Amino acid sequence: MGSNILVTGGAGFIGSHTVVALSEAGFNPVIIDDFSNSNASVLAGLRDILGRDVPCYAEDCNQYNLLRKILHENRIEGVIHFAAYKAVGESMQEPLTYYRNNLGSLITLLDAMLAEGVSNLIFSSSCTVYGDPDTPPVTEETPIKPPASVYGNTKQIGEEIIRDVCQAKSLKAVSLRYFNPIGAHPSAAIGELPKGVPNNLVPYITQTAAGLRPELTIFGGDYPTPDGTCIRDYIHVMDLAEAHVSALRHTLSYPETRYYNTFNLGSGKGHSVMELVLLFEKISGLALPSRIGERRAGDVMAVWADVQKSANMLGWKTKRTLEEALQDAWRWQQKLNNL
Ligand code: WQD
Repeated sequence: MGSNILVTGGAGFIGSHTVVALSEAGFNPVIIDDFSNSNASVLAGLRDILGRDVPCYAEDCNQYNLLRKILHENRIEGVIHFAAYKAVGESMQEPLTYYRNNLGSLITLLDAMLAEGVSNLIFSSSCTVYGDPDTPPVTEETPIKPPASVYGNTKQIGEEIIRDVCQAKSLKAVSLRYFNPIGAHPSAAIGELPKGVPNNLVPYITQTAAGLRPELTIFGGDYPTPDGTCIRDYIHVMDLAEAHVSALRHTLSYPETRYYNTFNLGSGKGHSVMELVLLFEKISGLALPSRIGERRAGDVMAVWADVQKSANMLGWKTKRTLEEALQDAWRWQQKLNNL
């Protein structure tokens, strides 16, 4: 029997795909999710893919006694901590809500893990810690920039809290810095469920193609990039999910009792907004209504990951193409809208 792993936020976009990857790798995931930004239908999707129910606590994870009980009763050996608020714009309007939720739940979780002797932690961090890099690609040694949002600050501070705890206590932890996760499980049983108008590019593209939005606005066409649009590192969510399994194996087998490290999770390649639009049109066979609009405040011009450290130390690299990611995202949108 594989290890039991607690997945906080396991009903969310990256969390639910990681539950699949964990199960397929022989681990036994247990979810805690308060469903504040996810839907109970995810559990049915997981059942469709895995052929069994995944245990789930429908609770806020910022509860010390409850977390201790869950860690103890399920003989949890490691935790993957996804549960957090993630809307950049909202974080600027409601900073205390973001600090309380994202940092409060992390501290509560760390307290509960130390009390129960659970010594392996994987933390969801973000490439946002690099800000606007001078020369992409960024390595893990690229200096951290002052955060551009409260959300980004919760990730920076979260990393620092974990690093400090790993220096003082028996804890092995890694922070995973995600670039731009896109796509869905190829079965279309689970995928991204943005609330309201999507902020992110790919759900905006698929909702426009599905007729839910009149057109895509491309934020800025005058950047000093080859086609004038911003460049990002898009990664298939299942590749990202599998990286969590590699990271977990890495900490579980790490021979010391105190350990902390950070890893970039991206494809290692940059693609422009325009390239994504054209590739989506190719795979869907549709003409996507779009226009070039103003630049979006806070957007960086170009960022992509150097993934050598993740390859060397985690033995992980992406397997899926950008085309597959867009195909899977589109299949998921079509299923959502019965197209
Ligand atoms: C991608 C590109 C936009 C929407 C996000 C989070 C960030 C981090 C990584 C987690 C940009 C352009 C978008 C649209 C557009 N996540 N765009 N029209 O901003 O790179 O980062 O993921 O920690 O915190 O904010 O992702 O998908 O919003 O944008 O032209 O309608 O698409 O300008 O160049 P972003 P995104």
